[in-house]
Amino acid sequence: MPHAFDKLESNDKLTAQVVICSIIAAFGGLMFGYDIGISGGVTSMDDFLEKFFPKVYVRKHRAKEDNYCKYDNQMLQLFTSSLYLSAIVCCFFASKCCKRFGRKLTMQLASLFFFIGVILNAAAIDLPMLIIGRLFLGAGVGFGNQAVPLFISEIAPPKYRGGLNILFQMLITIGILCANIVNYATSKMHPNGWRVSLGGAAFPAIFLGLGSLLIVETPTSLIERGQIEQGKKTLIKIRGVDDVEKEYQEILQATQLAHQIKHPFKNLMKKSSRPQLICGTILQIFQQFTGINVVMFYAPVLFQTMGFGGNASLLSAIVTGSVNVISTLVAILGVDRFGRRGLLVEGAVQMLIAQCITGGILAVHLKSTNVIPKYYAHIVVAFICVFVMGFAWSWGPLGWLIPSEIFPLETRTAGFFFAVSMNMICTFIIAQAFLTMLCHMRSGIFFFFAVWIVIMGTFAFVFLPETKGIPIDEMNERAWKKHWFWKRYFNNDPAHEDRQDAKLSEN
Ligand code: BGC
Repeated sequence: MPHAFDKLESNDKLTAQVVICSIIAAFGGLMFGYDIGISGGVTSMDDFLEKFFPKVYVRKHRAKEDNYCKYDNQMLQLFTSSLYLSAIVCCFFASKCCKRFGRKLTMQLASLFFFIGVILNAAAIDLPMLIIGRLFLGAGVGFGNQAVPLFISEIAPPKYRGGLNILFQMLITIGILCANIVNYATSKMHPNGWRVSLGGAAFPAIFLGLGSLLIVETPTSLIERGQIEQGKKTLIKIRGVDDVEKEYQEILQATQLAHQIKHPFKNLMKKSSRPQLICGTILQIFQQFTGINVVMFYAPVLFQTMGFGGNASLLSAIVTGSVNVISTLVAILGVDRFGRRGLLVEGAVQMLIAQCITGGILAVHLKSTNVIPKYYAHIVVAFICVFVMGFAWSWGPLGWLIPSEIFPLETRTAGFFFAVSMNMICTFIIAQAFLTMLCHMRSGIFFFFAVWIVIMGTFAFVFLPETKGIPIDEMNERAWKKHWFWKRYFNNDPAHEDRQDAKLSEN
């Protein structure tokens, strides 16, 4: 797959080492995805509700209960969202750990935290134990999501960076699908099916933990931490050629520059860092406000709201999960051909249409206590698939890819931390608020997300520079400084930036 970094064309061989290491690291995505997919199914299982959320269980089975409010319960939402609360806090420590102790150890810690969380969850005897387990899982997700994309980007040969990076998203979607399938199977195992569902998360954690013993540390991280010789040896090993001098020198230079920056977070506040910071974080906000996680977390709940039986609901979630995986392949193949902006705008239009039709049908046909006619329910599922498809080849993978490629090296890790934590914050907000919003806004919730989609589509069209094919280290020159809007953030007078730098280091 063609990609930007042609500057290093001598080292663009895709070796088995790199492929294997990237796949192993991407198991972090599998952990994340499995978790996203498992909560919705589990929270719609009667055995689980009866044990931990008896009030919701009673309400769910009350014939006269309002369709839209059956599941509105803050504690039930906390079950899903608590993971993200912990992930927000933990990705800050993960960014420090990544820098200090390397990407590999950060990933190992991710799998360890995740594994502890799985044990607490699968063995949970009461709500606090369940929530504490979720907090550990959140730590695993925070550490994993900070380290994995960074690891893949650093290890990938420049030419394949885009495609390999989306491998992370690909494994997220596979994780979600596996979770949907597991939920479908365990929903028939009474009374402990939910334990099997939650316990299944151990597999990706074990894969990542054991796999990470086999992978190399990234040359950048080794060199950054003073292990210069080891770094060079690793570079030779993963590139499969002896002559790595050019790339080695680049890494040396980059790390020297990075060492001069004592406060990357302060550096990020410079005027000339603002365009990347704004775009990187806003993309993650927008990614979540597409409403994707309403489908990913609550699809079975949503489908039950429409009157599908428990089984049919989980089955429909498998359908949406499969659409998600297959459509992500389109992103892998298309991102370096069609460009980022094109995919983002097309995805937004497609999601907008799907949200409006879904909202429209529910507004007309799903009242408080009826069951939606089967025919319409199927149309709704079809349009939810259209929506997922649009997301999966645009805002899903690009929400992770773009923030990883738009920052100059000095602010890359700090900038990426802002993007990741913004993703977690917004995921938390959606997970915590959705069921209550559904209860109060009813079908209007779909139009709420539609408005966001109009805003983000317009933003991508008007404000986002195209980054396809631009070498990462030339991004400022060729993307930002040439953009009709963002160029004003770059004062061409170098003395001006120097003065700003001086001011920053004085503080
Ligand atoms: C998002 C997740 C989402 C998933 C769906 C990811 O890029 O960050 O929040 O659930 O895509 O595939």
